[in-house]
Amino acid sequence: MDVMEAIRTRRSIRKFKNKPVEEEKLRMVLEAARLAPSWANLQCWRFVVVKNPEVRGKISNLSYVEAFFAPKGYKTNPAKKALAEAPVVIVACADSELSGELGEQHYYLTDIGIAAENLMLAAHAQGLGTVFVGVFDEEKVRDLLGIPATIRIVGLFPLGYPEGENKEGPSRKPLEEIVFEEKWR
Ligand SMILES: Cc1cc2nc3c(=O)[nH]c(=O)nc-3n(C[C@H](O)[C@H](O)[C@H](O)COP(=O)(O)O)c2cc1C
Repeated sequence: MDVMEAIRTRRSIRKFKNKPVEEEKLRMVLEAARLAPSWANLQCWRFVVVKNPEVRGKISNLSYVEAFFAPKGYKTNPAKKALAEAPVVIVACADSELSGELGEQHYYLTDIGIAAENLMLAAHAQGLGTVFVGVFDEEKVRDLLGIPATIRIVGLFPLGYPEGENKEGPSRKPLEEIVFEEKWR
């Protein structure tokens, strides 16, 4: 699968088969994240790989944040079950002090975002699925996994073999709407 095909056909996966992920495939997914570009090549990311079903269940229960979802009318995080059901959850963390900052720009978020896309594309290219879960109780996930207070948790990635067909996902805005020639319009 070439890069453009992987980008075009990747979807957020929230339903998984009851099938383990081979170690080589998991390693390839982490390797793709490791090779991402980062601010001054400081590689502020750290990844906690969780396979223990009990711990995954606890993480799943920490993915609903009422203050975020309730006003939007959601009863739960659409990825809540995925975190319990996928055989692996990758917890993407950042040592924010190891990345750059300029005014309000916190580059650790960019660093993790790029690594996350590498991770998601590498998963998809190997027949696996995942979804970026960005809403969760950071403090409680930190306590659960023994992550130090100086480390930010940016995303949770349930990883496994997708259950069901890879349906067409939500559409994207056309280029004409998002690209401006020469000047903002
Ligand atoms: C930063 C970020 C946070 C996200 N958080 C969640 C989340 O908490 N729960 C969820 O179900 N999906 C989450 N998503 C997935 C998006 O909803 C999804 O990528 C988007 O709807 C486009 O669908 P697609 O990935 O299938 O193309 C998140 C995506 C990003 C990039």
